Amino acid sequence: MEKYVILGGAKLEGEVEISGAKNSAVAIIVAALLVKDVCVIENVPAVSDTYVLMDIINQLGGKAEFVSKGTLRIDARGVDCIEAPYEMVSKIRASSYLMGALLGRFGHARVAMPGGCDFGVRPIDLHLKGFEALGAEYTVEHGLVDIHAEKLSGAEIYMDTVSVGATINVMLAAALAQGQTVIENAAKEPHIVDVANFLNSMGANIKGAGTDVIKIKGVESLHGGTYIVIPDQIEAGTFMIAAAATNGDVLIKNVIPKHLDSVTAKLLEMGAEVEEYDDAIRVKASGNLKKVNVKTMPHPGFPTDLQPQMLTLLTRTEGTSIVTENVWDSRFKYVDELRRMGANVTVDGRTAIVEGGAQLTGSPVSSTDLRAGAALVIAGLMANGVTEVYNLKYIDRGYENFEQKLRSLGAQITRRKDGEKCHFAGIA
Ligand code: EPZ
Repeated sequence: MEKYVILGGAKLEGEVEISGAKNSAVAIIVAALLVKDVCVIENVPAVSDTYVLMDIINQLGGKAEFVSKGTLRIDARGVDCIEAPYEMVSKIRASSYLMGALLGRFGHARVAMPGGCDFGVRPIDLHLKGFEALGAEYTVEHGLVDIHAEKLSGAEIYMDTVSVGATINVMLAAALAQGQTVIENAAKEPHIVDVANFLNSMGANIKGAGTDVIKIKGVESLHGGTYIVIPDQIEAGTFMIAAAATNGDVLIKNVIPKHLDSVTAKLLEMGAEVEEYDDAIRVKASGNLKKVNVKTMPHPGFPTDLQPQMLTLLTRTEGTSIVTENVWDSRFKYVDELRRMGANVTVDGRTAIVEGGAQLTGSPVSSTDLRAGAALVIAGLMANGVTEVYNLKYIDRGYENFEQKLRSLGAQITRRKDGEKCHFAGIA
């Protein structure tokens, strides 16, 4: 088993380059299945979720390969299989996008119920309701969702809950449908806009992405082309929080500052310095930071995918902060691990009360999901002594070169097999 070994106490200082957005890339890679041609996608992060999806495309008869760093070539001409069984898709939540893409292209998809990080209930009822509105029928048998349609026709679809996955899945299925689809109460995350821009650059007709009404006029076919994925909002936010958490001074490059407004606002409220440039953000902190309350919300609210990192930072501020999780029903599992390090946090349902002022102490901890893993690394950077973070498979799903980037900023972090010695100054 591999782990990160972190010697806490170093301030993060310097510059870091943010990778392409994982949550955009995973949707765009699957969206390329709609295109009976070659798509070249640039700025794709080399994370395990990307490799899992490349494997799936290859198994379905297509060809996905990195042709240079960050540049993925997907040739979906040969795709001739509409079935993605459990072994193929159970590792990754984004495999649910196969439903919309295969349904859109072939009128038929057989996809196992998707897996991914566990934050409690993760239904796909809104995805299925959307497909039904477009004229599809589905059954769920033996763990497979079988969705088919003689013909997909545009429809008006109101989403009961704001859902990133359902919004993207309906866009995929509707891109080649007959007539116009209108999604109301659509998700507005930057990766929704990115997927729509990708599809439009391949010939689709999608308007309104980034607002809560998206209009998709179905087209006959899509063509190949080249597309560049946007920078990763959540990776950038993670480095912003890590800079503040270590009293550091970091210039975070290749970002879209607008995507990070909610994080910037909270860091400023806490007393950190945040400077915005065209495509970079500098975060600097020193001394005591102030408590803040944080409520996660769909975009443009504070992202749930930065909630664990932010809560971790709040363990060192003055006073008591309240963190409310409004997106997922069970996203505080990692708090037990933080308590092991001396954090003083009480969880009651979707609310966590964080008593600030704790000096965390290094200890062995285990990632419970992707973003919780990043939060525990931040906790390790803040702690006195040595922290070991286990279960790196989660962090590997979504952070490209995480330890290398942190090391380049001065963090004492190394990746080790269990039992392998670690040679930080002063540590055996
Ligand atoms: C996406 O998941 C992200 N994943 C998640 O990021 C992120 O936490 C989430 O959006 C919210 O921002 C990817 O983009 C691959 P949702 P998704 O559908 O699409 C409810 C990370 O760490 N809901 O927006 O699965 C659901 O229960 C990952 O990078 C329904 O009720 O999330 C939740 O409460 C983890 N019915 C809420 O909507 C449905 O059919 C938002 O879920 C679908 C969702």
